[in-house]
Amino acid sequence: MELCIALDMPSAAENLNLVESLGEYDGLWMKVGFRSYIRDGRYFIDTIKSINPNFKIFLDLKLYDIPNTMADAAMEIAALDIDMFNIHASAGAKAMKTLMQRLEGLDERPLVLAVTALTSFDNDEFEAIYGASIEEKAVDFASLAYENGLDGVVCSAFESRALKEARPGFLTLSPGIRPFGEDAQDQSRVADLKMAKESLVDFAVIGRPIYKSENPARTVKRVLQSMESL
Ligand code: C5P
Repeated sequence: MELCIALDMPSAAENLNLVESLGEYDGLWMKVGFRSYIRDGRYFIDTIKSINPNFKIFLDLKLYDIPNTMADAAMEIAALDIDMFNIHASAGAKAMKTLMQRLEGLDERPLVLAVTALTSFDNDEFEAIYGASIEEKAVDFASLAYENGLDGVVCSAFESRALKEARPGFLTLSPGIRPFGEDAQDQSRVADLKMAKESLVDFAVIGRPIYKSENPARTVKRVLQSMESL
């Protein structure tokens, strides 16, 4: 299981201070989401890579649009020197296929994940939108993503195990991780590190429990140590 840190703080300076304090951790994943990318764009990505070229970047923009627009956006994303990005599975099979076909034309492409159910949804809210339970729909969405050549899915730790067991090698990335049982905040389906590991999660995304902690660099160290020992 790998750690992916959500860089969702209010300014580039705060996020980059955190990134700098973690400069020694080769291979650590940094999640750049709406807040940071909309505000700080390409400069932010380039600066993270300049701090340590071995940091990995997950661009969490959750694309959702018509197939051609998504494929065009995916090609622009691939030109950004990032390592992974995501789309909404509910954009459908045609969008997934068009986008993956376009990316396959590149010498090297980033990993592509499909969002199944946002981890902030509880079952009632999810059912009101999608007409099925999270469990059911996560399986359908994962099948769709797998059949259309994506590399994995974004799902909560609660869905990860079943999805992994059905398709070994297909990646799962789970937000809503509260490493040592911290407050769930607006997340509904949260898991600690132990549960994430038992659920075969490949990437554990952690935001507020790290950047809102008293000493974020120390918290990261503790999380990494705990991940190794599990
Ligand atoms: O602060 P916290 O650890 O809850 O951050 C979780 C991060 O993961 C946020 O950046 C949020 O946008 C993102 N995310 C999520 N649920 C998803 C996909 C992404 O919480 N399904």
